[in-house]
Amino acid sequence: MSGRAMWSEERASSLISNHQDQRGALLPMLHALQEEFGCIEDAAIRLLAKTLNLSRAEVHGVVSFYHDFRRTRAGRHVIKICRAEACQAMGAESLIEHAQRHLSTDLGTTTTDDAFTLEAVYCLGNCALSPAIMIDAQLHGRVDAARFNALVGVYGKDQ
Ligand code: FES
Repeated sequence: MSGRAMWSEERASSLISNHQDQRGALLPMLHALQEEFGCIEDAAIRLLAKTLNLSRAEVHGVVSFYHDFRRTRAGRHVIKICRAEACQAMGAESLIEHAQRHLSTDLGTTTTDDAFTLEAVYCLGNCALSPAIMIDAQLHGRVDAARFNALVGVYGKDQ
């Protein structure tokens, strides 16, 4: 899945119906919608609330509780930089500052060319190789400024 399809109520209803009979269906439905459309838009919240007979506030509460769900579409690649303890001790904060400067974007935002979304996370489970980052689903360890630039160069070519 690209995670970049434009919103379609028909497609969303079809994805939702795949999980209709599941216990605790809301989470798998949200994952399926985000996988398809790249984020959970207001229209998705409205549709889920209607389908599951919940209030929009209830659905919104679940979306905002889980950090994995995003309300706005991400760039083509998502860079997560760990700022938990082990990575902090190995220079994560200066790596974050470097990343923001290099990409000309802030944490939680997307570059103007839509190539990268930059996010902070708390432990990627790669503490032994701090500081760690994840680009899309790929982990990278012992990332310094030069390695960060090199990785961004590689992923940036993948339009
Ligand atoms: S503290 Fe950064 S990967 Fe665990």
